[in-house]
Amino acid sequence: MRDNYHIVALPGDGIGCEVTAQALAVLEEIGRRVDVRFAVEEIPCGGHYYLKHGQEWPLGSYERCEAADAIFLGAVGHEVDGRPVMTEPGRPYPEPQLAGYAPVIGNRKRLVLYANLRPIKLYPGVRHRISGAFQQVWEPDAVDYVIVRENTEDAYTGETQTIPGGRMTPIVITREATQRVVRFAFRLARKRGKLGKVTCVDKSNIVGAHRFFREVFTEVGRDEFPDMQLDYAYFDAFCQWQMRNPEWYDVVVAPNLVGDVISDNGATQQGGLGLAAGANLGDEHGMFEPIHGSAPRHAGKDRVNPMAAILALKMMLEWLGERFSDERLPRGASLVEDAVATVLHEGRPLTYDLIGEERAAPCSAVGERIRQLVSVA
Ligand code: IPM
Ligand code: MG
Repeated sequence: MRDNYHIVALPGDGIGCEVTAQALAVLEEIGRRVDVRFAVEEIPCGGHYYLKHGQEWPLGSYERCEAADAIFLGAVGHEVDGRPVMTEPGRPYPEPQLAGYAPVIGNRKRLVLYANLRPIKLYPGVRHRISGAFQQVWEPDAVDYVIVRENTEDAYTGETQTIPGGRMTPIVITREATQRVVRFAFRLARKRGKLGKVTCVDKSNIVGAHRFFREVFTEVGRDEFPDMQLDYAYFDAFCQWQMRNPEWYDVVVAPNLVGDVISDNGATQQGGLGLAAGANLGDEHGMFEPIHGSAPRHAGKDRVNPMAAILALKMMLEWLGERFSDERLPRGASLVEDAVATVLHEGRPLTYDLIGEERAAPCSAVGERIRQLVSVA
């Protein structure tokens, strides 16, 4: 157990900054409630930083992330006059072409955050916004599964080659990276004790590299987790089953790009990206983030939902608690989750994405209410 946890916060661009501010205010309150000190170091980064400084974050930032007990990321991606800010062409990995993405993709790869954990959970009271109308499409009991997205390879290598007539980006799947993420998924399914099932979602009927992912999944599952059920789905078909029968799923494991897509799809079932949180986890490091982007057109308006960031904070507290065997932290995580669930159940204050423009509360009012609930719980 520690006296003090060192957290690096990377607010990033746009609404990333606004939701990070709300999450950090909740963290401060949690510190008081469970008697833990969090030393938060904020590092500026992203596309706006790149425009000003010609690099995506200050020199030495990566090392600060490496030294931290946990990293909290808002969102990156900046636009000028509606156009995304790009880096100079030809800059090597881990700085992809969109300026500011190094803290995301770079950290995932360099800190070996090989499992991107994205819980798809529907809290009671949340209505789904489909075709502009708010309605409850799925039952809360039916929507409770976890996507484990491989987080270091597949189409995310950062490499693109020019070929005659076009460009080519490789899809890389290695045994090592697949084994570690698949083991993570099976261990998680054991721990959850829901259906004892892991579904491998890929495009192995067409993409040879995904066929290898599936083979490694099968080997690991069969040899190391005989108590677990192995389940398979092609990515395209999964997208419709996911919508139609979310109750079929417990833990889903997928290559990086597939996991990227099915987790945004799953976010719809949770009530939208405003509620979807994720954890980038390795054996040594953890980075926690709302899975939404920086949403430049909503930035600076105090209007977006801070709950995804606050739920990412909850995941950070759970992970830190386990890693440092500190039972104060899961207590803090429960306080956060209960406060979010209470606001959703009471139906106010909510941001526009959950209740429509007319009755919308600002981002800061939602954060403030959650903080208040945490302080009196
Ligand atoms: C995500 C995002 C990122 C990704 C972007 C911001 C690079 O969409 O975390 O899902 O593609 O992984
Ligand atoms: Mg995504």
